[in-house]
Amino acid sequence: MKSYSDIIVVGGGIIGLSIATELASSGIAVTLIEQGMFGGEASVAAAGMLAPLKEFTKPGPLLDMGIRSLQLYDNWVSELREATGIDCQLSTAGILTVAMTEMEEDWLQERYQWQKTEGYEIRLLSTREVHEREPHLSKKIRQAIYSPHEADINNCLLLEALVIQAEKRNVHLLQNTAVIGLKQTGHKITGVVTNKGEMVANHVIVASGAWAADILGQVGVDVPVYPVRGQIAAVGSSNLPLSHVVFGKNGYLVPKQDGRIIVGATEDLAGFERSTTVYGVSTVLKGAMSIVPAISQAPFLQAWAGLRPATADGHPILGPVPDWTGLTVACGHYRNGILLAPLTAKWIVEYVRSGETKHMSAFLPERFSLVSYD
Ligand code: FAD
Ligand code: GLY
Repeated sequence: MKSYSDIIVVGGGIIGLSIATELASSGIAVTLIEQGMFGGEASVAAAGMLAPLKEFTKPGPLLDMGIRSLQLYDNWVSELREATGIDCQLSTAGILTVAMTEMEEDWLQERYQWQKTEGYEIRLLSTREVHEREPHLSKKIRQAIYSPHEADINNCLLLEALVIQAEKRNVHLLQNTAVIGLKQTGHKITGVVTNKGEMVANHVIVASGAWAADILGQVGVDVPVYPVRGQIAAVGSSNLPLSHVVFGKNGYLVPKQDGRIIVGATEDLAGFERSTTVYGVSTVLKGAMSIVPAISQAPFLQAWAGLRPATADGHPILGPVPDWTGLTVACGHYRNGILLAPLTAKWIVEYVRSGETKHMSAFLPERFSLVSYD
């Protein structure tokens, strides 16, 4: 196998797929290389929440990025539906963040205050108002923030749609192909070495999630990305209509249009191990039962785990690798890669086309001292 593309994207999760489809729509010849199945790692494991106000605990560039990326979703999924016929089931019912103890109430109040001060449209609900919206929630709930513009999506359908769109845009798609090295002339990248042969390109974009440090380590670049396992489960929703995503200190519940409720999730350090454990799954289920007691009678469907790509400072790492030509990284989206994918793709494509990095200045790799040992 020896072939040429303008750009090779390494890693076919939500980030690599989004970047590859966006690049291809600008007429760039792209190859996307995935060592397993497209979307088969963290991206398929996710709960699909698009929830910047729930996930980010303070104002700043990450929250701004989340809000802007969420705003892209409507158009993005409409375009995908038109191109592929797949409805990604974007639900815009909003999110309830609940407090069940006095301490949690303080935490909720603090969150409410800064989000209100920043001008976000949220509402504080009393116990009665919460139960009017969601009668199955625990009677212990004291207050909740209702955030009407946050959403969730069926991330499995989104991944399917992106693969079809990539095919339609003539992305050269390679599954079951592992990148095992980068080709270089001095500090210029000239392609990749895979377990099936070499490929030539002017530019390589590393979007390999929790594994990004392996590939960049091949050329002596030490990026601080590591896996954080998330164990998560699905139960049947037949006896239990929930209409909002519900998030509490003990976990979250995400009702899906296909009759499942996704309940999550642990954050545990287990290296690259992505099996589930009795402790992990039982913790997740107990957390969900504390928020919605009737879940105890719901049919248990499945449990699984995925590896979130975490970084040393909790922010994604986006942009050109310092001291290299033709080497870009887009990884480290940690708990929010589904949310952040459309804007990540836009920013990376803007950089590829114009060299512009101003929008992602808070996320550039150069904020770390990336030891380059050669
Ligand atoms: P991945 O999906 O892991 O993709 C990276 C790909 O690179 C993998 O498919 C891997 O096989 C491939 N790869 C690695 N090395 C190589 C190589 N050498 N050669 C070729 N291919 C390679 N985010 C949200 O926004 N909302 C949520 O509700 C949400 N819930 C989550 C719940 C759980 C339990 C977990 C685990 C994550 C959740 N996330 C959520 C986070 C989200 O899933 C991740 O941030 C996102 O999937 C990261 O996407 P990625 O493409 O960077 O990584
Ligand atoms: N964003 C939810 C999770 O990572 O579990």
